[in-house]
Amino acid sequence: NNPPWPAYRGYHEYSFAHATMQSRLPTILGKAIEDATRTLNFQCDEDRVIDLRRCIDRMHELMTDLSGNAKLRPIIDDGEADVALWNKEIAKFFQGKDFMNAPWLFAEAYKYRRLHECFSVSKYWSEYDVFYRQKNDTFSRSTEAVFELSMRFAESFKLRPNLSSAANLEAERLMFLELTQVCLWGNSTDLSLLINMTEEQIRSLQSTGGEHLAATEQNILGNEMERLWETVKQVRDKKPAGGRIDFVLDNAGFELYCDCVYADFLIQSGLASEIHFHGKRFAWFVSDVTKKDWEWLINNMVYGNLFPNVSDVEMESLRCLGRRWKQYERDGLWVYEQHPFWCTGYTFWDLHSEAPDLFLDLSKSDLVIFKGDLNHRKLTYDCAAPASTPFEEAIGPMASSAGAPKVASLRTIKSDVVVGLGTNGDETAKKLDETEPGWKISGKYAVVLLSEGRPG
Ligand code: F6P
Ligand code: MG
Repeated sequence: NNPPWPAYRGYHEYSFAHATMQSRLPTILGKAIEDATRTLNFQCDEDRVIDLRRCIDRMHELMTDLSGNAKLRPIIDDGEADVALWNKEIAKFFQGKDFMNAPWLFAEAYKYRRLHECFSVSKYWSEYDVFYRQKNDTFSRSTEAVFELSMRFAESFKLRPNLSSAANLEAERLMFLELTQVCLWGNSTDLSLLINMTEEQIRSLQSTGGEHLAATEQNILGNEMERLWETVKQVRDKKPAGGRIDFVLDNAGFELYCDCVYADFLIQSGLASEIHFHGKRFAWFVSDVTKKDWEWLINNMVYGNLFPNVSDVEMESLRCLGRRWKQYERDGLWVYEQHPFWCTGYTFWDLHSEAPDLFLDLSKSDLVIFKGDLNHRKLTYDCAAPASTPFEEAIGPMASSAGAPKVASLRTIKSDVVVGLGTNGDETAKKLDETEPGWKISGKYAVVLLSEGRPG
């Protein structure tokens, strides 16, 4: 059940895999230790202090393992729902492997699970998220784009009675395409790569104006947005009450906000009647959404005061959006879920066999939108497939298993694997390799790809 191409590994020198295993992961872990130490310095209760001190000691042990390229050991049974899946995979495939010679995707995921273990075995700190502070910061540092969107979308989307139905449909199509891009590019500002960006740099990446979107569409190297539009139109026509769209979320803060603006439009336009959001159970790849991040965002929009320099009208637009989203949750139109499988080392080639309950759940959806780079790596097995490989081939069983839902990937390109660029894709990739050597990790380019799925 594996693809014919080799998976990227940390020992592939000059790959992003190598750079990540060699220097990015230790840097990220170093920052995590700083965060926990900061928290430690604010504690007064002795039991809690001692308990947190032990968590930090375990993080140092992990740092030693990572920088010393230790062998991957089993995960300690901390009572979490994913332990059995982790240890089964380690025993079956990665016995005796170390951080560098295990597939990159697995080794990187394993590091985040070990980081979680530093806390999950503690008495008081099992829920502690070392990236929480940073995640919240990205939202507050995105003022301009946050209010550009809230001012436009706070008011409900309505069809215009004075326009013909064809004109209304065209207006919806344009709005859909624009918001698909907003949702897509929301992924380019994730924390794990852009940790040192200035506010100015963030602003230019996040600008959502129409002209800017036309220009950025040129950078979508595999672009199936029109097919995506045709797909969601069919979802709306589902009898009796419309269809369900799922988001497999990526990053918290600004990206999640963009996802929600998009999902809000899907509900208001009737393109979907129900949206399911899938998040992570614990801190994952620095900035991924957990339940706490989800709650933080919406509550902050409604009750918080993160943006002291904006006008009352702007602030009210943000609160209005937040209140509407809360109502969707109360009405069951928006559902937040967190299956343990999302925080394992398995790629989605194994989703149907290792998490059949999740596969069954997703197969009830009319369209599953996977956000971001890591989800794309997992969909494609993170292997060295040629850039011309059709998306449906690259995602294997997620396209071909009986019951596979329609799958879309909205991903800004931030790592080695690139597929779905069409028949001339290999030349496109070769040319970019020559002219823009960092094109696969800059987040400047993207893909919007679609698989039709297979009825059960
Ligand atoms: O560490 C590399 C990585 O796993 C890449 O896939 C990507 O650069 C980043 O982390 C996560 O990106 P995203 O948040 O878009 O999944
Ligand atoms: Mg992420």
